[in-house]
Amino acid sequence: MGIIIALDGPAGSGKSTTARMVADQLGYIYIDTGAMYRAVTLAAVRRGIEFTNRALGVLVKTIHIQLEQSPNGQRTLLDGIDVSREIRMPEVTKHVSEVSASPEVREAMVKEQRRIGKLGGVVMDGRDIGTVVFPNAELKVFMTASIDVRAKRRTEELHGKGIETSTKAIEQEIQERDSLDSNRATSPLKQAPDSRILDTTSLTLEQQSEIIKSWALEIIQNKKINIR
Ligand code: CDP
Repeated sequence: MGIIIALDGPAGSGKSTTARMVADQLGYIYIDTGAMYRAVTLAAVRRGIEFTNRALGVLVKTIHIQLEQSPNGQRTLLDGIDVSREIRMPEVTKHVSEVSASPEVREAMVKEQRRIGKLGGVVMDGRDIGTVVFPNAELKVFMTASIDVRAKRRTEELHGKGIETSTKAIEQEIQERDSLDSNRATSPLKQAPDSRILDTTSLTLEQQSEIIKSWALEIIQNKKINIR
């Protein structure tokens, strides 16, 4: 049985790509929990629903979100339709922190995340994985990076997807989102006391995934020894 690896941290710290690389190398599944909150936000925006806890609570009961593993990474389906591209659009990003602050939305998403991850062999990234979703995860990593680097990475990522924007605008957007995510009442973004901090400011993707993989292998090895 594999372990649970929880990767938390602010926007642009490199969680998703690193999580995918580590999962591939260990033969684990990768779960991008941000995609789930983005899919709820997309549904709310499309239906013109108010971002109140009550309205969002009704919404989450009527939509169906699925995460599928594909050779090009995770695909996100909303009511059976692939919305992997739409959930990255600026309109969704603009509202996602507000929607994610809803306790009803979080309760529904966390329930699903626990169901998917409870058997282990999973790398899950988000904001509250090590604190709320899997407080007993064997490996918890809190990834950070300077705001300049995070904004630059996100701008390049968006350019790669054909979305034109400036680094300055992105810097402002991620700072606003970090502040909303860190100051909300339910499951705020914060470092779990027993997590390891990984500052990725001057690391390459290969280097950061190597570090996490070596931490994971050490834990997996010790676990085997304890079982015997
Ligand atoms: O990729 P990026 O860092 O831009 O964000 P994401 O991981 O796609 O998450 C988008 C938003 O979803 C975050 O800004 C949070 O508001 C919310 N989120 C959350 O509240 N809890 C999680 N476990 C994951 C994401």
